[in-house]
Amino acid sequence: MSPDHSSPAAPATLRPQPTGALFVETVLSVHHWTETLFTLTTTRDPSFRFENGQFTMIGIPVDGKPLLRAYSMVSANYEETLEFLSIKVPNGPLTSRLMHIQPGDALYVGRKPTGTLVIDYLLPGRTLFLLSTGTGLAPFMSIIKDPATYGRFERIVLTHTCRHGSELAYRDWIEKELPAHELLGEEAAAKLTYYPTVTRDGPGPWREERITDLIASGAFFDDLGRGRFDPAADRIMICGGPEMLADCRRIAGEQGFDEGSSGKPGTYVIEKAFVEK
Ligand SMILES: Cc1cc2nc3c(=O)[nH]c(=O)nc-3n(C[C@H](O)[C@H](O)[C@H](O)COP(=O)(O)OP(=O)(O)OC[C@H]3O[C@@H](n4cnc5c(N)ncnc54)[C@H](O)[C@@H]3O)c2cc1C
Ligand SMILES: NC(=O)c1ccc[n+]([C@@H]2O[C@H](COP(=O)([O-])OP(=O)(O)OC[C@H]3O[C@@H](n4cnc5c(N)ncnc54)[C@H](OP(=O)(O)O)[C@@H]3O)[C@@H](O)[C@H]2O)c1
Repeated sequence: MSPDHSSPAAPATLRPQPTGALFVETVLSVHHWTETLFTLTTTRDPSFRFENGQFTMIGIPVDGKPLLRAYSMVSANYEETLEFLSIKVPNGPLTSRLMHIQPGDALYVGRKPTGTLVIDYLLPGRTLFLLSTGTGLAPFMSIIKDPATYGRFERIVLTHTCRHGSELAYRDWIEKELPAHELLGEEAAAKLTYYPTVTRDGPGPWREERITDLIASGAFFDDLGRGRFDPAADRIMICGGPEMLADCRRIAGEQGFDEGSSGKPGTYVIEKAFVEK
């Protein structure tokens, strides 16, 4: 991919001013996982509050105006910095620029987080399934860092399906660092199952099919050593591309799950990882 340097992010010396709706944070670090995926961390205004699993608008000034897109917080709500996982869309209005952002640059962060992927929108249950594709992993990162998740569920199963193994962002952190985490490690080691699947690479330490196919064949449940979905005991959160969402919604409906919302908790909740145009 040839980088587009035509409209770089504003340098720190030309910092945009905060507006009523936006904080202006400072980028602390940038990590490029692949040619299509990166992570950035920023400062966090102490007054910015959110529920784990929510998203907010983030962006940069373009032609003197904020150019904003929805992003889920990867960081948990108790962390001092903010973290976002981002796709790089070659001609994407925001990400073709955001991919060049550097430590010290400014990032707009919307003051009003929202979203349906919060455990309060689910009825009590025993096992929590977090089903993700691509950047749909992001909201589940904050959810697996939340002590309340482990307090509320006996088992948490996090699935992440990507085209390539290199796109399994945070795999090392989930597999190695989280179980050793000072506060969460013991519960995460006992309760969290990480289940990566990769659809367009050769063999690796993962299943080589879409999660939806593994659910349909039953291989997923065999791998977990349990029976199929049970709406009496299982709760599901889903975040991925439009087709993945449609397929998972159908599967959940066929199995007797009801969609939850802020007004009425249910047995599953769903959110777009991006909008197909
Ligand atoms: C509720 C919600 C939460 C979101 N959270 C995130 C997030 O945490 N991380 C993130 O990278 N994006 C996220 N997105 C998508 C994000 O808002 C932007 O679409 C993305 O940053 C690309 O912006 P753009 O201006 O470069 O291109 P856009 O014009 O916004 O998108 C162009 C096209 O790129 C593709 N695309 C956009 N975003 C993605 C993606 N994330 N994965 C795969 N294909 C994509 C789609 O085909 C889309 O039509 C979220 C979207 C929604 C609705
Ligand atoms: N990531 C890349 O390498 C790449 C490269 C070029 C362009 N793009 C473009 O970027 C956008 C997003 O790419 P992405 O790879 O992040 O997201 P994506 O196309 O949604 O794919 C992410 C993962 O989800 C799987 N998936 C797709 N539809 C599914 C469904 N209905 N049920 C279950 N799993 C499903 C894919 O499997 P399958 O592999 O079986 O589809 C893949 O493993 C797309 O518009 C794509 O055209 C991505």
